[in-house]
Amino acid sequence: MSVKTILTEPNILLRQVSESVEKVGDEERKLMDDMLDTMYAAPGIGLAAIQIGIPKRIIVMDTSRDKNIKEPMYLVNPVIKNKNSEKTTYEEGCLSVPDQFAEIERPNMCEVAYLDYLGNKQLLKANGLLATCIQHEIDHLEGILFIDYLSKLKKSMIIKKLSKTKYNRIVV
Ligand code: NI
Repeated sequence: MSVKTILTEPNILLRQVSESVEKVGDEERKLMDDMLDTMYAAPGIGLAAIQIGIPKRIIVMDTSRDKNIKEPMYLVNPVIKNKNSEKTTYEEGCLSVPDQFAEIERPNMCEVAYLDYLGNKQLLKANGLLATCIQHEIDHLEGILFIDYLSKLKKSMIIKKLSKTKYNRIVV
């Protein structure tokens, strides 16, 4: 298991549509382990494979509030089957959009079908924070970031700010 570098906006890779996984095998499980390590180290509550530069439809999450109890979730090829018309608003951030936050409105319930860590089919009904997190992460698989829901002006201001910030800059 290892911690990978998280790509940040603006980066063309983050805009790529990720590809479906044909079979959940050892390679995919290794990737999920690395993603989870990377997410916990960040720290964050969700990460999509494309955020470490791998265009596969894989998400890891842990929305447990208790830091001592880890409840990792692995979602491969997640598809939203059903969502509520009722909306909820959370102030969202994203590991690929560092230090930027905005209120985003999304359906407050969604049902998602996916393959788990072992490749077994699962169907999950999610509410609240988990529902928002799932929708945010599935957006990543389509090359969508939460800032895309903001006004053009707000979005361009954030991208401009991020472009000026050099992460992991070293002088040797
Ligand atoms: Ni994100």
